[in-house]
Amino acid sequence: MFARIRRLRGNRAIREMVRETILHPWDFIFPVFVMEGTNIKEEIEAMPGNYHYTLDRLHEVMEEVVNSGVKGVLLFGLPGQKDEIASSAFDGNGIVQRAIKKIKEIAPELYVITDVCMCQYTSHGHCGILKGDEVDNDLTLPYIARIALSHAQAGADMVAPSDMMDGRISAIREALDENGFSNIPIMSYSMKYSSAFYGPFREAAHSAPSFGDRKTYQMDPANARQAMMEAEADIDEGADILMVKPALSYLDIIRMSKDRFDVPIAAYNVSGEFSMIKAAAKMGWINEREVVLEMLTSIKRAGADIIITYSALDACKWLKEENHE
Ligand code: PBG
Repeated sequence: MFARIRRLRGNRAIREMVRETILHPWDFIFPVFVMEGTNIKEEIEAMPGNYHYTLDRLHEVMEEVVNSGVKGVLLFGLPGQKDEIASSAFDGNGIVQRAIKKIKEIAPELYVITDVCMCQYTSHGHCGILKGDEVDNDLTLPYIARIALSHAQAGADMVAPSDMMDGRISAIREALDENGFSNIPIMSYSMKYSSAFYGPFREAAHSAPSFGDRKTYQMDPANARQAMMEAEADIDEGADILMVKPALSYLDIIRMSKDRFDVPIAAYNVSGEFSMIKAAAKMGWINEREVVLEMLTSIKRAGADIIITYSALDACKWLKEENHE
């Protein structure tokens, strides 16, 4: 006698009955890039199907998101001006602040999350305040808190700091609580690695550092236990959701954090992961739909409760098709 494990793979019905991981539109958050100007919907070269939108055309993508069944968007802003201290990031009339209000007009039920960082807004492209050539942790904290607060004041449902400064969750939590936003959750980019997979995003967001790299604040890809320290610190400081970023090369980190912590775990399926698939599909080397759904399923199977992905809208369309095939 031996185990006939193939018995439960005999046809589609039984395969579906024993399936452990099922993707659903609610799993996804869709990133959206907003820019200053009028009447622009401009495709991001390395991220086909993703665009920069000016506010007057934002309704086009918001309608698509609502129709897809996805419940949340993650907003990134491209400001008109940059300076040393990222002033446009905490300007009450900044691009993200106005985009939040606009989305709440177009689709009040959509859950609006904002990326809280400085790199798109600083002239030097780093995620904090410089002291000499170094990003100074403690000088940066009040700015990060101020950016998060300005997003909440504009109507954001949740803030997501991606700067990787130590102590930022406390700083943000305090600023939110003191100003009447104790109910606004924080999704922390807790376990954010210094990754080459962010390449296309930095092109898209015009946020590449003008000198040096982000290795003094983002994590070394070689480290797993240090990610658990980051996660623990963020929970202690009041983070509501923890994020692992990128996703595909870090499925072990997703699983470890899921096993250790009881807060929801989000995974960011980043730009480079998206672009690789697009490029290979364009060459005819892989089946985009099957690869994307397999990859998203793997991220969920590894333990992600939430997946931030540029494939969200396509995935929802494909999932619907699969259900009708
Ligand atoms: C900002 C930020 C980055 C990403 C999200 N927020 C870039 C970076 O840290 O360089 C990357 C997203 C992606 O690659 O899809 N700090």
